[in-house]
Amino acid sequence: MSRRHRIAVIEGDGIGREVIPAARTVLDRAASACGFTLDWRDFDWSCETWKATGRMMPEDGIARLADHDAIFLGAVGYPGVPDHISLWGLLIPIRREFDQYVNLRPVRLLPGVPCPLANKQPGDIDFWVVRENVEGEYSQIGGRMFAGTEREFVEQTAIFTRAGTDRILRYAFDLARRLGRPHVTSATKSNGIFHSMPFWDERFAAIGAEYPEIRADQYHIDILAARFVMSPERFDVVVGSNLFGDILSDLGPGVTGTIAVAPSANLNPEKKFPSMFEPVHGSAPDIFGQRIANPVGAIWAGAMMLDHLGEAEAAALVLRAIETALGDPASPRTPDLGGTAKMDDLAAAITAAV
Ligand code: NAI
Ligand code: MG
Repeated sequence: MSRRHRIAVIEGDGIGREVIPAARTVLDRAASACGFTLDWRDFDWSCETWKATGRMMPEDGIARLADHDAIFLGAVGYPGVPDHISLWGLLIPIRREFDQYVNLRPVRLLPGVPCPLANKQPGDIDFWVVRENVEGEYSQIGGRMFAGTEREFVEQTAIFTRAGTDRILRYAFDLARRLGRPHVTSATKSNGIFHSMPFWDERFAAIGAEYPEIRADQYHIDILAARFVMSPERFDVVVGSNLFGDILSDLGPGVTGTIAVAPSANLNPEKKFPSMFEPVHGSAPDIFGQRIANPVGAIWAGAMMLDHLGEAEAAALVLRAIETALGDPASPRTPDLGGTAKMDDLAAAITAAV
């Protein structure tokens, strides 16, 4: 019996509908090369669903996704539908209900991708951002009083639980150990944020002590952001709260050239629930329909999915194929990479490299 993985596919909106099918072709090729099957099941949930039904996904949406080994998502959001609807109606419920408490993003300068920093070569920038994905600053706790008057005030509460803080920090140290990259950097702001960040630092020191072979250091978020730009070579694994991690996990891919090639994983590391894999970019309505979207972010997200499913060999195959295709000056390039090729040509070159 060959191995089979059940994947829930949500192409979503805009170029999600283009890059996800392109990525599936590449992943299927890697699966057949490595002797397993990807059993794709499509869920046609998007902003169009919202316009037709008033919901981004059906009431039992979470239950219908639960019975899968992973979720592969394009992007949600489209002009005419407020972004908080697509976010709170689909992405956030999936992340929270499935306890996907790790958001993991590789930051890596790929061959053939122009870098906005001077004099950087592929290999110079290669690290991981680990973002806490379910608590912290992104909470619905708080309120507003005396709205519209001179006395108006709002209160927004950040939640840092011991369990939630420890498990994200531990994930970061475990990742560093697993990758053989013995350096973890914590994003903090304990000089300005009075309660939560000193607590975060305390837990970082406590968890770090369990990993004596790993160098642990911390920077305030402001100077850390500057160091991402000035000296990105120095990092192995960077861990941050939901807000700091959110910012760093876009800044990281930004310094490597284009968010179009960046992937993102929302992980439930214990595999009690399905994890979700998606490109970092959104639905790009400005280029949707022209078939010129760069498919690499979606394909790389698919490689992370294969890795999570225990198919490390296939994951490595896909990543090498991306590097081979982008590194070959004769390969087709999409306009964001300075070329004139269509998405399908770049995807075909990557499939051929697999
Ligand atoms: P975006 O990432 O969709 O686009 C930003 C710019 O990058 C655009 O000029 C676009 O053409 C370009 N771009 C993005 N992906 C590309 C690709 N693969 N190849 C070539 N160029 C690419 O971000 P934007 O415009 O802020 O958001 C558009 C919609 O997408 C919004 O409704 C937003 O809420 C949603 N969105 C959804 C996300 C998700 O589902 N996780 C993430 C980010 C945005
Ligand atoms: Mg973000």
